[in-house]
Amino acid sequence: MSIEPGAERANPLDRIIDAALQRAGGWLPFDRFMALALYSPGLGYYANTLAKFGQMPSSGSDFVTAPELSPLFGQSLAVAVEDALAHTGTREVWEFGAGSGALATQLLESLGERIDRYTIVDLSGTLRERQQQALGAWGDKVRWLSELPEAMQGVVVGNEVLDAMPVKLLARVAGQWFERGVVRGPDGVLRYADQPTELRPPVEIQGVHDYLTEIHPQAQAFVATLADRLERGAAFLIDYGFPEAEYYHPQRHMGTVMCHQGHRSDGNPLVQVGAKDITAHVDFTGVALAGQEAGLAVLGYCNQARFLINCGLVARLEHASVQQRAMAARLIHEHEMGELFKVIGFVAGVQPWDSVGFREGDRTHTL
Ligand SMILES: C[S@@+](CC[C@H](N)C(=O)[O-])C[C@H]1O[C@@H](n2cnc3c(N)ncnc32)[C@H](O)[C@@H]1O
Repeated sequence: MSIEPGAERANPLDRIIDAALQRAGGWLPFDRFMALALYSPGLGYYANTLAKFGQMPSSGSDFVTAPELSPLFGQSLAVAVEDALAHTGTREVWEFGAGSGALATQLLESLGERIDRYTIVDLSGTLRERQQQALGAWGDKVRWLSELPEAMQGVVVGNEVLDAMPVKLLARVAGQWFERGVVRGPDGVLRYADQPTELRPPVEIQGVHDYLTEIHPQAQAFVATLADRLERGAAFLIDYGFPEAEYYHPQRHMGTVMCHQGHRSDGNPLVQVGAKDITAHVDFTGVALAGQEAGLAVLGYCNQARFLINCGLVARLEHASVQQRAMAARLIHEHEMGELFKVIGFVAGVQPWDSVGFREGDRTHTL
């Protein structure tokens, strides 16, 4: 299929997508489209200068993350990180996808002399500049890398990073499985189009009804790479998602891909490309298996509320102002971030221990 010969689109990101479509014969798998929409240098959502994270739409932001909501998030996570530093005998924190630098600030303040170095790995050059401004006071203690070194030791953290990794879309239509991709229609509008595929969800979907879902090869490859490089240490990955049985439940038939803009969500990633976030929920069973197969051991898995409470969040609330309490409560309320968000912990190079964050309410058995 050719893309409207002669059509020169005004938006440079549209031109990049058209060039990719042209090279791919007119059809781009959704994960390839999502990667371009989020990470095309200078233009993709995470590579451009839009505000993205913040508490209110008036700041020009699109969504709020836990460390933006309350410093008590990072202060509580620091308890689990410190416990992991002690058990692994390491002195470095590695943060993936550090956003505005809010979590880094909270961890650096809480961990103080307990760490020698804080390394940030982020794909986004514009976010790196923002982080450098926010973290300037820490001098050489903080460093930035654009890719992982061959070998690492320390404690890894990543908040809402896995959900920002491109996913493949699979659609069962009239009993047949298709991979859903993106085409540019003759009217110049991006549309979904399906191609037959051998790919399948990791579990059989009960029933014969039409069904849309995602698979997460990139997130799983990311965890496998982490396993390969982390010689000694632990990792805490925090995100919204479910175990496999819930993710691929027959009733979840419309998938989990969502966009965020101006603190509203919508389900159409094909419009306003580059101006809004595109995400998918995390399949935590897939993440756990990818880690285990690559040599990590699971330290624990539980919901965010339980993890933060295990790390002393409630005691911290007692000393907080009313406004701070209201914000922090959103981290643990079931109908906000408390239940949908989960924490998975991994360990490398030492035996798993009774990690403080998973001490009560560990749900590893549900994975
Ligand atoms: C939703 S934002 C979360 C930002 C921040 N952690 C927070 O909680 O506010 C996702 C971040 O993950 C980053 N990211 C996505 N894939 C990544 C990867 N493979 N390595 C490092 N960072 C990545 C993006 O550039 C972006 O900064």
